[in-house]
Amino acid sequence: MTRMAWLLFGWLSFSFALAAQTAAPSLVFDALHKQVVARVGQTNVVVSFMLTNVSTAPIVIRDVSLSCGCSAASMPAKPWTLKPGEHGQVTVTTDVRGKRGSLVKTAIVYASSGTRVLTYQVDIQEPTTPEERARNQSIAKADRLAVFRGECAKCHAEPAKGKLGKELFAVACGICHEAEHRASMVPDLKVLKKPTARDYWLQWIAHGKVDTLMPGFSQKAGGRLTEEQVRSLVKLLSRSSERAQ
Ligand code: HEC
Ligand code: HEC
Repeated sequence: MTRMAWLLFGWLSFSFALAAQTAAPSLVFDALHKQVVARVGQTNVVVSFMLTNVSTAPIVIRDVSLSCGCSAASMPAKPWTLKPGEHGQVTVTTDVRGKRGSLVKTAIVYASSGTRVLTYQVDIQEPTTPEERARNQSIAKADRLAVFRGECAKCHAEPAKGKLGKELFAVACGICHEAEHRASMVPDLKVLKKPTARDYWLQWIAHGKVDTLMPGFSQKAGGRLTEEQVRSLVKLLSRSSERAQ
């Protein structure tokens, strides 16, 4: 190779290295796409994105704009400055009243480090027809763990994946216990007359009850929740029942 070619080669690799460095993200998101489920009767769905400034300079987030008027974004301040190493949340609330099917939405984050496009999908649960419901109940009567399998899992198990606490309660428990038109055998957990300590919640969540429609959620009992998820529910529920007393 000639000297000229070597020079050109050196210059090219230098510019590629530089380009790669400037392209390295300085604002990191916990995910660029999220998927959530809107339960039957739910009017608003909340999606949060966690942002972290991994660069050595402050980043200013000027605004977050949304793809439709049915959503609202909130962030800690406007403009919002994230110091190096700092993290925080942008929360988007979507009104799903009167909507059906799956909605795909976009949120654009305008930051001093560049513009990022976030997307999220809201799957709106359809109310089950009386016939489907009767069939589901009879399947569950024969096997209360059926909710965790096959097509039942789409509504009764998958939405719980990776969630903890309040968010988990809404999809794993609220689906039955907070349904607008609850079946008569599903009790209202907010008005329990018995003392409700940690052991009570742990027992019901982990094991459910044989010969009823209440499944056991721990993996040992055939459910789909991890120990950490079960613990997060026990904590949430024993705290809220203490407050109620
Ligand atoms: C499309 C989502 C969806 C699917 C699929 C689904 N369920 Fe449900 N399930 C619900 C909802 C929502 C409720 C709350 C009651 C209501 O609004 O119908 C519920 C309630 C229940 C209940 C409580 C009793 C009642 O009717 O209120 C049982 C038991 C149950 N489902 C079992 C099953 C079984 C077993 C399957 C699979 C054969 C299944 N479900 C599939 C959404 C679903
Ligand atoms: C498939 C529907 C369904 C789901 C999902 C469900 N439950 Fe239940 N649950 C029931 C039914 C039905 C009963 C009534 C059992 C009986 O007949 O004693 C019940 C009973 C209970 C009880 C006993 C209430 C009492 O009367 O003392 C508690 C506590 C409870 N559930 C908590 C939960 C929690 C927490 C979750 C989420 C991890 C959950 N349930 C999810 C259907 C469900």
